[in-house]
Amino acid sequence: MFKQKYERYLSAFNEYAEEYFKKLTVTPAVLKESMAYSFINGGKRVRPVLMLAAADILGVEQNEALPFALAIEMIHTYSLIHDDLPAMDNDDFRRGKPSCHKAFGEGHAVLAGDALLNTAYSVCFDECFKGEKYVRAAKTLCEYAGVNGMIAGQSADLLQAENDSAANEETLRFIDEHKTGKLILASLLVPCVLADNKNYFEFEQFGKYLGTLFQITDDILDETSDFSALGKTTGKDKQENKLTFVSLYGLDGAKIQADIYASDAYAVLDGINADVSFLHDFITYVRNREK
Ligand code: IPE
Ligand code: IPE
Ligand code: MG
Ligand code: MG
Ligand code: MG
Repeated sequence: MFKQKYERYLSAFNEYAEEYFKKLTVTPAVLKESMAYSFINGGKRVRPVLMLAAADILGVEQNEALPFALAIEMIHTYSLIHDDLPAMDNDDFRRGKPSCHKAFGEGHAVLAGDALLNTAYSVCFDECFKGEKYVRAAKTLCEYAGVNGMIAGQSADLLQAENDSAANEETLRFIDEHKTGKLILASLLVPCVLADNKNYFEFEQFGKYLGTLFQITDDILDETSDFSALGKTTGKDKQENKLTFVSLYGLDGAKIQADIYASDAYAVLDGINADVSFLHDFITYVRNREK
């Protein structure tokens, strides 16, 4: 049931995104090629799927949520392209293929990321003409992706790897709540805004736990999984001197932390008066994911 529902959201999203890219005309061609290379047919689409699921639960039409789902996946993809650059995590593979800078060169990869980010906001602005609620939804996405959102987490992550004097729990939680948590939160809060702030508080609490849980399992998989499952090089966190749940708590400790975040997330759902079974199963999926 969960799997079928996930697939349904996923194909609705992919169809919409592919149609958008088909219509996009860009000169020089390499700019569109590098954007599409990283974006199309890659990734689990966790954020758009969450957004469409939250919209369903809150009574928001899928058509209302799809443009924001496209925007958030574009922002996520740009963050991955930049995250992989030699100046950041220096990763040669992403989504089972050479990373964008390996395929197109560093300069073109920087620009592919820039282009996806700007296109995401263009998609949001198109929605804003519909009314104030849509402006607030776009602003929410922008804030959670921005300087006090995902980018703050990436900055703290980089700083921490350069100088590990602050390798403690507080720094780690800040990094993960921002670099990964904020976009996951935005996937849930944009539909809340579109639903006139229905269940905002509960979704905010839920998203905080789910976001950090997602990064804990990313950290665990970097240690325990392999390229064929993940489509990215493993063992990189240690190599790049990253502060992660595994480096701070050890593998078993990280799994215990994941269980704590998962049970906190389940508990929040108990307080929502709607059918949240998909979100319940989503926690289980994230906790046990193999890719
Ligand atoms: C990877 O995100 C980076 C993190 C924020 C942990 P995903 O695991 O969602 O990557 P894709 O989109 O499926 O490739
Ligand atoms: C990245 O976290 C979070 C982003 C905002 C891109 P990681 O650096 O751990 O993600 P992976 O492991 O490269 O996918
Ligand atoms: Mg990183
Ligand atoms: Mg990385
Ligand atoms: Mg990682």
